[in-house]
Amino acid sequence: MKSQILYETVAGLDKVADIAKQVVSLVGEKAIVLLHGTLAAGKTTLVGELARFLDAGSVSSPTFSLQQCYGDKIFHYDFYRVEFDEICSLGLIEEFEKSGLHLIEWAPLALKELLVDAGFNLYEIDIEVVDDSSRKYIIKALDA
Ligand SMILES: Nc1ncnc2c1ncn2[C@@H]1O[C@H](COP(=O)(O)OP(=O)(O)O)[C@@H](O)[C@H]1O
Ligand SMILES: [Mg+2]
Repeated sequence: MKSQILYETVAGLDKVADIAKQVVSLVGEKAIVLLHGTLAAGKTTLVGELARFLDAGSVSSPTFSLQQCYGDKIFHYDFYRVEFDEICSLGLIEEFEKSGLHLIEWAPLALKELLVDAGFNLYEIDIEVVDDSSRKYIIKALDA
C-alpha cells in the first residue's frame, strides 16, 4: 500500500472550518476517509465542520447502529472494537459504495486493505494533539 502526504498543518479550534474546506478540496465529496487520532484529538469536531461546510443537514437516522448520517452527504462510522468480519457480515462494504463522504474511525487494518484493493477513492487523516489549543492534521492519499 502506498501513502502520499497531500497536506499538513497545525491549527487551533477556530481553524477547523478551514481544514474541512481544505479536506473537501483535496478528497472531493465522494471519498472514503479513515480518521486517526487518540480520544479527544478532534475527530468528531472535524466531522461536524465537514457536515457544516457541505451543508449536509442534521444527523438523520442511520441504516446501521455503527453509523451516523448527515443528510445524504456524510456517513460517519465508529468501528472501535468492531472486527473486520462483523463489518463485512453487517453489509457495510456495500454501504461505502453510496455516493458521499464516508468518514471512518478505528478502521481495522483488513478493512483498509480491502478498500484500497477494491479501488475506492481512499484517504487518511491523522490528527495529533500538539497542545491544549492546537492539533496537527496530516492528510494522505492511499493507493494499492
Ligand atoms: N484543532 C483543535 N484545536 C484545539 N482544540 C480542538 C481542536 N479540534 C478539536 N478540539 C477540541 O478537542 C476536544 C475533543 O474533540 P473531539 O472532536 O470530541 O475529539 P474526538 O472525537 O477525537 O474524541 C473538544 O473539546 C474540541 O473542542
Ligand atoms: Mg469523537
